[in-house]
Amino acid sequence: MAAIPSVNYAGKVAFVTGAGSGIGRATAIAFARAGAAVTAADINKAALDSTVAEIEALGGKVIAVTCDVTKASDIKAALDLTVKTFGRLDAAFNNAGIEQPGTMIADISEELWDRVIAVNLKSVFLCMKHEIEIMLQNGGGAIVNTSSGAGVLAIRQQSAYCASKFGVTAASKVAALEYADKNIRVNAICPGIIDTPMIARYTGDTEEGRARIIKQEPVGRMGRPEEIAGTVLWLCSDAGGFVTGHAMVVDGGQTAGI
Ligand code: NAI
Repeated sequence: MAAIPSVNYAGKVAFVTGAGSGIGRATAIAFARAGAAVTAADINKAALDSTVAEIEALGGKVIAVTCDVTKASDIKAALDLTVKTFGRLDAAFNNAGIEQPGTMIADISEELWDRVIAVNLKSVFLCMKHEIEIMLQNGGGAIVNTSSGAGVLAIRQQSAYCASKFGVTAASKVAALEYADKNIRVNAICPGIIDTPMIARYTGDTEEGRARIIKQEPVGRMGRPEEIAGTVLWLCSDAGGFVTGHAMVVDGGQTAGI
């Protein structure tokens, strides 16, 4: 019997957006720990510097690219630099995103709607467009896009965020179908409540705010960014080689009863 494939990134190249904070930061570090050369992309240069310092301290290979994921030219430049520096692209984690302040749909401004859709959804399209071009030349690759629990169920006062994340799930599945025969796998990840700066902003970072949202988690705690990173690494690795077009919920049971 053949051995079970391992989660090993030696000689591989990974691209991560939103790598300055939270889930993206943990995943960029995890890719580097697993042996990948990593491009860490984020709009926030200071945050990126801290991720890079941590990867370098581990002896990892990394480049930082300040990049606004709503801009096609920034994304193309970041990916072109990845190929120029490391020679290829094997894994991409399109993860940068923003939260939506709780707003009833009739009260959402057009600007807020457009902003949330641009950062959370259009960015995933722009990233996949350029990543797939490169991966087709590589002979294949694996992409994971960050959706959310809000990409599988409706949440009051989160219409723009839910629309963006349902869109990420849909675009991931369509891309998976379109490129399955080209050895490019595309999946979405749907995290539950993960303890990151985004959630700290959402809860006001108070004990009371944290307790209120932890109540939604059957496991009685928030997830750790590293627990999403571990799933992303598995999905992009040979161990996840038969998984494509899947929206993987990693949520401590939050949506299990729905
Ligand atoms: P975070 O706020 O800690 O990190 C997001 C990163 O994205 C930041 O470093 C930020 O600078 C970057 N970013 C924002 N706009 C950008 C832009 N235009 N261009 C480039 N980079 C940009 O957030 P967190 O929690 O790590 O979220 C990461 C992803 O996970 C997001 O897509 C979020 O919607 C999603 N998510 C988070 C959950 C949570 O509970 N934390 C749950 C489900 C999904």
